[in-house]
Amino acid sequence: MKFFVDTADVPAIAELNDLGMVDGVTTNPSLIKKSGRDILEVTKEICDLVEGPVSAEVTATEAEQMIAEGRKLAKIADNIAVKVPLTWDGLKACKVLSDEGNMVNVTLCFSANQALLAAKAGATFISPFIGRLDDINLDGMQLIEDIRTVYDNYGFETQILAASIRTANHVAESARIGADVITAPPSVIKSLASHPLTDKGLAAFLADIKDAGIKIL
Ligand code: E4P
Repeated sequence: MKFFVDTADVPAIAELNDLGMVDGVTTNPSLIKKSGRDILEVTKEICDLVEGPVSAEVTATEAEQMIAEGRKLAKIADNIAVKVPLTWDGLKACKVLSDEGNMVNVTLCFSANQALLAAKAGATFISPFIGRLDDINLDGMQLIEDIRTVYDNYGFETQILAASIRTANHVAESARIGADVITAPPSVIKSLASHPLTDKGLAAFLADIKDAGIKIL
């Protein structure tokens, strides 16, 4: 399973990238706002830093404008994935931009039917939002499972990019179900290393190291 980092924070991306944890990056208008940076500048910097796909989202809501914005974003670097919302206009833009050879990430997906449409429109990635479904007491993981089944039933090659990941369990469950990619904030990716028994075991070893005066260097 590939790991994308869901942020426009360049130092945070660089830290994870140095560890080999970054297969790609996703951004959205809220993350660009949080970065306080110009979208074109920060996206270029991220594209130069990582080898994998970097999702940059259009701002328009009508297909023609989305296509124009998508073409401009795609010129930033070869590893840009143009992100469009899952609306009828977004699907039109997805079809045109993917036919032109661009990677397209269709975002804000909340149903298997929406995912089916995105695959038929040639999406490279479909982004179902797990956390936002959980927020309204629906089952985000069930959506990942449903899309996996639908895509496998018909051999769609669109990659399932499990998004709106808030917890380590979301990551583990996405991997168990067979999502192709997860995108998560740096804090969630780092939290995957934590386990209370690791902390407890290390504390016991450190106590024994001290008691026995064990030295290596
Ligand atoms: C992914 O592409 C989205 O930008 C992101 O995962 C949304 O996450 P949120 O629901 O925590 O804002």
